[in-house]
Amino acid sequence: MKPINVGLLGIGTVGGGTFEVLARNQQEITRRAGRGIVIRMVADKDLERARKLVGDSATVTADAFEVVQHPDIDIVIELIGGTNIAQKLVLKALECGKHVVTANKALLATCGNEIFAAARKHGVMVAFEAAVAGGIPIIKALREGLTANRIEWIAGIINGTSNFILSEMREKGTDFGVVLKEAQRLGYAEADPTFDIEGIDAAHKLTIMAAISFGIPMRFKDAYTEGISGLSAADIRYAEELGYRIKLLAITRRAAKGIELRVHPTLIPARRLIANVEGVMNAILVKGDAVGATMYYGAGAGAYPTASAVIADLVDVTRMHTADPEHRVPHLAFQPDQLSNVPILPITEVDTSYYLRLRVYDRPGVLADVTRILADNAISIDAMVQKEPSEGDDQVDIIMLTHLTVEKNVNAAIAKIETLPVVIGKVTRIRMEQLGTQ
Ligand code: HSE
Repeated sequence: MKPINVGLLGIGTVGGGTFEVLARNQQEITRRAGRGIVIRMVADKDLERARKLVGDSATVTADAFEVVQHPDIDIVIELIGGTNIAQKLVLKALECGKHVVTANKALLATCGNEIFAAARKHGVMVAFEAAVAGGIPIIKALREGLTANRIEWIAGIINGTSNFILSEMREKGTDFGVVLKEAQRLGYAEADPTFDIEGIDAAHKLTIMAAISFGIPMRFKDAYTEGISGLSAADIRYAEELGYRIKLLAITRRAAKGIELRVHPTLIPARRLIANVEGVMNAILVKGDAVGATMYYGAGAGAYPTASAVIADLVDVTRMHTADPEHRVPHLAFQPDQLSNVPILPITEVDTSYYLRLRVYDRPGVLADVTRILADNAISIDAMVQKEPSEGDDQVDIIMLTHLTVEKNVNAAIAKIETLPVVIGKVTRIRMEQLGTQ
């Protein structure tokens, strides 16, 4: 059979890795796909670098629209990133009847509903394994491997940059700012690290996983996002003393009142496997009603791991290219007319437990005042520690762990506690998850 022709948009780190792995493993890939997969055209702003990478094997152009509209191209790989030009290119490619493979989580989380509708209209596929957790085949697992299950919840470490920073803060006892600079020096964090450290990148990926797990549209704008820039080395240390690790966790759960969709620093028991995922690695725990808890671990970024996911999609699309659209795996795992409109819960309605740290003057009655406010808001204390004051100091840190409670009650209690004259500064609040698998 004649090879399938691919147009590659963007030959940076992931594009270069894709080009290289596809060439290196061409024989194995052809044996699997049933026909050759050949990159015929490459679009990149840096023509010189692109030509150096691809040699004579493909046509190189600076005009990505030339690639998406070229009649010889069957599949377009979009590795440009961002939402502006990438959206226009993807929509144009679909309109021209090309299948699209993309690693662009921001694009799918924010414009996915429009993109999938366009793909359906034109009878083509949009594949996005590389958009979530790099080389880990989590989309394949959720969309196909777990289709028998009612998915109950997902909890993932899906941003390597922030996980690297948290691992370093814990191991070295260093503050956030210092570790961020180190991560930037090592090339793990970007010059503008906002998307990674503020949980936005993780929320994009979580939005995609929630959609294919629960059969809902992409709802990025309803996701709650809180990053790691406000975390102190002291809280990481106190958590450790209590048997917990702090991770930037992306959580989605089917709760009684709606679906939780939230990214925030989270205390998790140190004995959990996922609590021991360190550095830039990613891991995702998925709880299905039939299978129980399953965990997926691997490299969440990097040229070759991400290329692995891009090429897996290329093979899938190649195999399904000639299939009738109704017989392909639906983009969002559920049939398009079966998507549900179940609401995303506002964070104030989410039930979880909390780590609270407050600095107080070491005087009689302080604890009584604080615990009275918690009781008035129906918050039950699970554990409590008072740290020794430093010598000559009359201020102490009190750490409380609560039982499950609804977030709006905790907000009300914190606001009240902060008005007590014996309380110094703000109360630190970090959500906790037990991630029990029963
Ligand atoms: N910047 C991401 C991370 C990888 O740090 O995990 C690409 O999504």
